[in-house]
Amino acid sequence: MSVTVLVGTQWGDEGKGKIIDVLTENADIVARYQGGNNAGHTVEIGDDKHILHLIPSGILRDRVICVIGNGVVIDPAVLLDEIKNLEKNNIKVKNRLFISETAHVILPYHKLLDKLEEGSKGSKKIGTTGRGIGPCYVDKYARKGIRMADLVCPDILKNKVKNRVSEINEVLVAKYSEHKLDAAAIAAEYTKYGEMLKDMVKPVHIILNKAISEGKRILCEGAQGTLLDVDHGTYPYVTSSSATAGGACTGTGIGPSNIKNIVGVMKAYITRVGEGPFPTELDKHMGEVIRKKGGEFGATTGRPRRCGWFDAVIGKYAVMLNSIDKIAFTKLDVLDDLDEIRICTAYKYNGKTIKEFPPVLEVLEKCEPVYETFRGWKTETSGCAKFGELPEQARKYVKKLAELVGSRAWIVSVGPKRSQTFYAE
Ligand code: GDP
Ligand code: IMO
Ligand code: MG
Repeated sequence: MSVTVLVGTQWGDEGKGKIIDVLTENADIVARYQGGNNAGHTVEIGDDKHILHLIPSGILRDRVICVIGNGVVIDPAVLLDEIKNLEKNNIKVKNRLFISETAHVILPYHKLLDKLEEGSKGSKKIGTTGRGIGPCYVDKYARKGIRMADLVCPDILKNKVKNRVSEINEVLVAKYSEHKLDAAAIAAEYTKYGEMLKDMVKPVHIILNKAISEGKRILCEGAQGTLLDVDHGTYPYVTSSSATAGGACTGTGIGPSNIKNIVGVMKAYITRVGEGPFPTELDKHMGEVIRKKGGEFGATTGRPRRCGWFDAVIGKYAVMLNSIDKIAFTKLDVLDDLDEIRICTAYKYNGKTIKEFPPVLEVLEKCEPVYETFRGWKTETSGCAKFGELPEQARKYVKKLAELVGSRAWIVSVGPKRSQTFYAE
């Protein structure tokens, strides 16, 4: 039995896609368990760059089976487009991708409501990706959602769309003075998507549990990150799913006792897209230096990512919440040119030093970071192929981060390519 869960430990974009691709060398199945096409996971292989939004990054190794678990929300048009693009690049998807019949479907009204709700919030907007993620999860938990099993049954789909659209239309007209949506047209469009996807819709929980009993190796691919988790993140500036490791069980149907390893992906600094508090956020000049060197622009929306120093208070929180066994540190190379690097080791709040991350917005907003200053290594690391080849000061930095967050440094990444990765032990 071997199930590994890989989670983001910050606000997303830690380099999960790249690390999944590296770890997939030793996996039989890769499963996404939450989120939707708000995610953008980048994998660079040779000169090809792939950005995956819904399909697990494991699809890029042809031996591997990929599944989209019940915890994911699916925009079928985006999924079909992603499949088409992969096939155009000679990556076979048929018979390699299975989609849970109980995963929820993103419909046009979810995307519309996402935009209208954000627009009505003014300065309090969350800065969502506008992909309809939040409203789709709202329907799921309000028990008004439409699932993949419905999508592939035209009569059921037509009926459910009709009922939900009539409720949504009331809101659209009364609250937003918008036009009514045409339920029949939506049902007709989505029936076509269902027809195209139906062969992939399966009882994924059974496929996964059977694979576990046969001794297959499963890798669960988290999307977003710990601080975007709906329960443990910087609420309300979060996404609407369980991005922490627990989500891998509810989002796939794999029971907790089957999970053997939890890998946390941690950037050597930190970034955030969208609004919300960010204690170690850099000033305009330094933020720009890191953004430029790290290519910190959203893989889904293209928005510039906000950049900040590594925050060990957040790292420790993520290690605790996810029971992280080992860490993949990414983007170390981005810090190569710096004379000095700062690490946040605690916060000052109301004159007191605190070391535990406060998930309450009103507290976090008033926290000031306490920094330790670390001498930079001023040497290019992107060509290093072993931990021992890193400059001594860079090795010390990695070890220091691992010690501060209370875990083990396992993998170090010094560039976007597969080859720019090595083990730290
Ligand atoms: P994800 O959402 O966690 O999969 O991360 P993204 O793909 O959104 O963002 C990570 C970005 O950093 C991508 O452009 C990757 O190609 C790139 N990347 C990953 N690891 C490294 C690294 O070690 N060094 C550098 N310079 N880039 C990296
Ligand atoms: P990956 O998997 C970074 C952020 C959005 C916004 C908030 C809510 O690539 O790491 P949503 O559209 O989910 O309702 O937006 O969450 N967000 C991400 N930020 N990486 C992601 O995914 C993200 N997915 C959502 O920017 O602040
Ligand atoms: Mg991303």
